[in-house]
Amino acid sequence: MNVYDSGQIQNRLAPLGYAPTGDPADADVIIVNTCAIRAKAEQKAFSFLGRMAALKQHKPELIIGIGGCVAQQEGQKILSRMPHVDLVFGTHAIRRLPQLIRRIAATRCRLVDVKLAPAITPDDFTLGAVASSDISAFVTIMRGCDNFCAYCVVPHVRGRESSRPPEEIISEIRHLVAHGVREVTLLGQNVNSYGQKEGLCSFDQLLAKVNAIEGLERIRFTTSHPKDLSTDLMQAFVRLEKLCPHIHLPVQSGSDAVLKMMNRRYDRRHYLEKVARLRSICPHIALTSDVIVGFPGESEADFEATLNLLRQVAFDGLFAFIYSDRPDAPAARFSGKIEESIKKERLQKVLACQEAFTLQKNQSMVGSIQRILVDGLSKHLSDETEERQFPVPLAGTQWSGRTGTNKIVHFIQEAPHDAGNQLLTGCILELMIDKAMAHSLWGRMLSPPIGSSGKGAQTYAA
Ligand code: 5AD
Ligand code: SF4
Repeated sequence: MNVYDSGQIQNRLAPLGYAPTGDPADADVIIVNTCAIRAKAEQKAFSFLGRMAALKQHKPELIIGIGGCVAQQEGQKILSRMPHVDLVFGTHAIRRLPQLIRRIAATRCRLVDVKLAPAITPDDFTLGAVASSDISAFVTIMRGCDNFCAYCVVPHVRGRESSRPPEEIISEIRHLVAHGVREVTLLGQNVNSYGQKEGLCSFDQLLAKVNAIEGLERIRFTTSHPKDLSTDLMQAFVRLEKLCPHIHLPVQSGSDAVLKMMNRRYDRRHYLEKVARLRSICPHIALTSDVIVGFPGESEADFEATLNLLRQVAFDGLFAFIYSDRPDAPAARFSGKIEESIKKERLQKVLACQEAFTLQKNQSMVGSIQRILVDGLSKHLSDETEERQFPVPLAGTQWSGRTGTNKIVHFIQEAPHDAGNQLLTGCILELMIDKAMAHSLWGRMLSPPIGSSGKGAQTYAA
């Protein structure tokens, strides 16, 4: 979501003549787009912003702004705490950035804009330039959240849930596709409740409209609240050929007592029933999840129930987080806080428990043929051990892409690396999966590419 918002910030600044630079020392404007979901993200944002003070000493005309959830949460306090900051703008203020920046440049005033609007308006989003290397793009379909999970800051900093009309979403995706994008990820805090409040179409109907866009290859979405996962949406995975068979369905805890304290509005049985129904409708779907350890009041038995759920579901992948207090979220005032050392221990146990399932899922793909969308040249392997397990032949170019189930696959194109090879980026290829590692797979091209054009508008089949 923040990646999408950063793109929107860039789109708003481009007409003022600002273009991105790789070196902060060259910048005339520095905008730090922040996340407040956990305490660590917030600390990182402030420490980065702190380091920017030195730049301003050398270049007093430099404009430094902070946007996003931390800006929304802290508002005016940031100006008092950080004298080098000129602008604090909240999650709904991105569209006003041009006016704010112009005013600061003209008068050197310091501004705070953290107004939250009740609903999305058409000028909240704008189309921008699409880089020629962009194969995959995010598209926000809704903002805010009405769920108020007890640990979560999002409803407090992103405001009430509000959906964009389908026509706007479709025209944004068409724009992206016209510039070579082949995969979109639809974004919302809870995409399953898309359009309900406004009486727009349902989320599965929106997916059907997106599926009909010519030139688009793949559709993904995130995130789904388990309580709102409908059978219609489960069936969309079978009905819509472009919808990738992967769903991220955060469970947060396996204990009914903790789920209740979290205000998740489902219990363990309800979650497991949805998973079973989903797998019966779409047996090959990949399932990933989020878990929080050390929520206030989480007993050893509650934690064991989470481990037990992980074993029962066998997720394809898991993001595990240590609970951290967020000042605006009610859980910050709950009793029964868990000691840091216990939280860390629990996190390690969750990660160790999941590791075996992630590897098993990857291993189950060995020997299968997978269609992958090539992201580009492999930037780095997930870790050094993986690299050592599978040495790269010298006369080859190493690429990486993703399966529909969102697994990373590396493969070698056995030809010297030259400009022609670059054109594999954006292609759909069929690969034989030869080897599975902890975080990625190795595949083999089944047939040589039969020519390609531009960003790779072709599909190569075996
Ligand atoms: N502490 C720890 N993890 C959190 N998350 C959200 N709020 C908190 C918090 N206060 C996690 C949840 C959510 C993911 C995006 O971040 O697991 O699904
Ligand atoms: Fe936060 Fe819950 Fe909304 Fe997700 S559904 S953004 S966890 S309040």
